[in-house]
Amino acid sequence: PSVENTHPHTDCGSTIFVVHNGIIENHAYLADALKREGHWFSSETDTEVLAHLIERVITAKQGSIVLEDAVAEALRHVQGSYGIAVVAKSEPGKIVVSRRGSPLLLGIGDREFFAASDTAALVRHTRRIVYLDDNELGILMPSGYEVRNLRKKPVTKSVELFTGSLQDVEKGGFDHFMAKEIFESPDVIRNALRGRVLYRDGSVKLGALDSASNEFAGIQRIVIVSCGTSYYAGLAGKYMLEELTGIPSEVVYASEFRYASFPLMKHALVIAVSQSGETADTLEAVREAKRKGALTLGIVNVVGSSIAREAGRGIYNYAGPEISVASTKAFISQLTIFVLIALWLGRQRHLSLEAGQEILRELQQLPNKAARILSQSPSVAVIAEKYAANNNFLFLGRMYNWPTALEGALKLKEISYVHAEGLAAGEIKHGPIALITEHFPSIVIAPNDSVYKKMISTIREIKARQGTVIAIAAEGNKEIQKIADETFLIPQTIPLLSPILAVIPLQLFAYHTARVRGCDIDKPRNLAKSVTVE
Ligand code: AGP
Repeated sequence: PSVENTHPHTDCGSTIFVVHNGIIENHAYLADALKREGHWFSSETDTEVLAHLIERVITAKQGSIVLEDAVAEALRHVQGSYGIAVVAKSEPGKIVVSRRGSPLLLGIGDREFFAASDTAALVRHTRRIVYLDDNELGILMPSGYEVRNLRKKPVTKSVELFTGSLQDVEKGGFDHFMAKEIFESPDVIRNALRGRVLYRDGSVKLGALDSASNEFAGIQRIVIVSCGTSYYAGLAGKYMLEELTGIPSEVVYASEFRYASFPLMKHALVIAVSQSGETADTLEAVREAKRKGALTLGIVNVVGSSIAREAGRGIYNYAGPEISVASTKAFISQLTIFVLIALWLGRQRHLSLEAGQEILRELQQLPNKAARILSQSPSVAVIAEKYAANNNFLFLGRMYNWPTALEGALKLKEISYVHAEGLAAGEIKHGPIALITEHFPSIVIAPNDSVYKKMISTIREIKARQGTVIAIAAEGNKEIQKIADETFLIPQTIPLLSPILAVIPLQLFAYHTARVRGCDIDKPRNLAKSVTVE
C-alpha cells in the first residue's frame, strides 16, 4: 500500500482514469510492450496497464473513437480478472464499466446511475440493480445507461429489485455476522491453501519463508506471541511445529512476553499471531522480539495492519473481514497457516516427502469435511438449547485438542456470558473435578487419536460423579455414545488437523447458546473487536 499505488490510475497524459478490482495476469508483458512504445508508468500496480492500453487505442484512432469502444478494444488484450470503471477528460459525465471474473453491478437511481462491486455499496442509494455478466460493458450517462457486449452489441438486462436490508447484505442472509463467518470456514481453509500447495514436493510455497530460507534453516527455537483466540491458535501451532520440525516451540501471552525478562537466544523465531494486526500487546511483543534480535514472522488477517508491517515478514490469512467480535473463521485460518509453516520448516529438516504429501492430501479434504459439520448445525442447536440454562461448563481436551477446549470455552464465555473453563483433560483430577455436578456440564473433545482412550477414562470419571458429558467424537464411533449424555460426530482426519474440525461444533454451540440466551452475539458487552490499548 502506498499513495502511488492508490486507485484511480491514469495514462501518460492523466486524461484517462481507471479503478479496478481483480488481477491483470499478463500485466508485466503488456507493460513491457507499452514502455517500449514510450509509455511511462507511475505505479507498481497491474491496474495502470489498463489506462495506458486505452490511451494507446485512442491515440491510434487520433481521438476519433468514443471511450466505450476504446475500453472494449483495450480489454481484448487483457488476461485475468477485472471489474473496472473508467472516466476520461475528453468525455465528461460518462462512466464506462466492464467485468470479467470480478463482480460489477449498476444501480438505477432516480435520474442518477451508479456502478459498484457489491450491493452493500448501492443499497443506501437505490434498490434497483442491474447485475453485469462477464464480458459485458456498461455506459453510464446523466441521461441513462446502456449495456453491451465487447463486440458493441446491445445486451438486454433486467432490473432486479433488492428487497433485503443493508445489514442483510452485509450478513449474507445470516442473522449474525458470527454465523456468517462460522459458515465461511470451508472457503477460509481454501483461501489459506490457495496458491501455496506444492504437492509434488510434499511442501508449500510461503513467500515470507522462501525469501529467507537460510535464516529459517538456522532456527533453533520458536516463540509464539499472541492474545485470546490467537493465543490458542498458537498453542495448537506449538504442537504442530514440534511434531513436524522437532524445533522446541512455546507460546507466550504477548502481554507477558513484552514485560518478562525473556531469554531470547540467537536463532530464535518469534511468530506473532493476530487477526486484526492491531492488538497492542502483540504489537509491542513484536517490537520487543526485534529489539532482542529475533527473526520475526506475522500471521495476520488484516492486510497492511501495524503488526503485518512491523513483523517485517508475514503470511496473510486471506480470510476476509472478520466483523463479529468473537473470532471464529480467523482461528480456523490461523490453524491452517500453522500447518503450512510447520510443513515448510519440517520439509526443510527431517520430514519425509511421503509424510508431507499425506498432510497435504488431508488438508485439501478439510473444506468439504468442514462443510459436512456445518450442515449439522441444527443438531448442535438442539444440544445448545437443552443445556443453555446452565451457567457453568468445563471444556476438556488433550494434545492438539487442549487448545480447542480453551477456545471453545472462550467462545462460550465471551458471547453468552456463561462461565466456561477450558482444561487439559489430564488436569481434571488435580482439582477441577470437585466442580462436577449434573448442572455443571463437561464438553469433552475425543477424536480418534493417541489419547482417545485417556479421554474415555476422563468421561467415565465425570459420569461416576453424576456429571453431564457432551462429547465431540469421530464419525463411526459407537462406544462413546453409550457413555456420554450427548455426542456430536465430526469427520475423521489426522490428529494434526483435528482441531480445525473439532472447533467448529464448539463455535456453533457457543453461537446457539448465546442466541437462546438472547445475548448480543456480534457485539458482546464490554468487548472490542481489536484491543488496541493495554
Ligand atoms: C476472540 O474471540 C476474542 N475477541 C479475542 O480474544 C481476540 O482473539 C484477541 O483480542 C486477539 O485479537 P487479534 O487476533 O486481533 O490480535
